Amino acid sequence: MGLKTLWYVIHESLAASRGNQALLAAARAVPGATIVDLYAEYPDFNIDVEREQQRLRDHDLVVFQHPFYWYSTPALLKQWQDKVLTYGFAYPPREGSALHGKAWLSVVTTGGPEWSYRAGGYNNFSMSELMRPLQQTCYLCGMRWLSPFVVHGVLGGDYGPIKATTNEELAGLATKLGQYVAGLDLADAHALEAVTTVHELKARWD
Ligand SMILES: Cc1cc2nc3c(=O)[nH]c(=O)nc-3n(C[C@H](O)[C@H](O)[C@H](O)COP(=O)(O)O)c2cc1C
Repeated sequence: MGLKTLWYVIHESLAASRGNQALLAAARAVPGATIVDLYAEYPDFNIDVEREQQRLRDHDLVVFQHPFYWYSTPALLKQWQDKVLTYGFAYPPREGSALHGKAWLSVVTTGGPEWSYRAGGYNNFSMSELMRPLQQTCYLCGMRWLSPFVVHGVLGGDYGPIKATTNEELAGLATKLGQYVAGLDLADAHALEAVTTVHELKARWD
């Protein structure tokens, strides 16, 4: 019996998206996953907090799939965090343990190539450094942080030395991601927490 998976996709124009549209195939490959297109549900940013909190209670694994926007999330995911992860629900010291023991998986696409996300690269910092606010949000909620699945170079085309990730590569990564999530066993997930990029994950799978 797999994990009960809640899969949020957060993209303001999903229909026009290349990367996130392709990766959504992974969500569809996870048996029984609840898939939520957050911008379609809340185009006015008026989030139904009770409904979202109940969704979280009802699942074991929460996937947040989105493009990287200004080294962070699209605005609606920030709004979701601010409204849904409330004191007394998501974090103690009052009750606040509704999310305890659940797992968090970020699935992120970036325009920048992998080599830009390091010291000396034009993005200067690694993805694990830049994603720390999300990681610590996860920890404060008592959740388990799974190694993010990051797909770099999701561009409209090659840009000088920056090679765009192709549709074929995206489809292949979506297949691997779907298999990974469908087979995820939190009992040995600690082994995955040390993995930092999808390229390293891919090397393990291949
Ligand atoms: C408002 C905005 C901010 C962005 N910020 C970043 C960024 O900080 N780093 C980066 O590598 N790409 C950035 N990008 C590029 C997107 O991450 C990229 O277009 C997206 O991941 C492609 O996925 P999609 O095909 O699903 O839209 C940004 C794009 C937009 C529109």
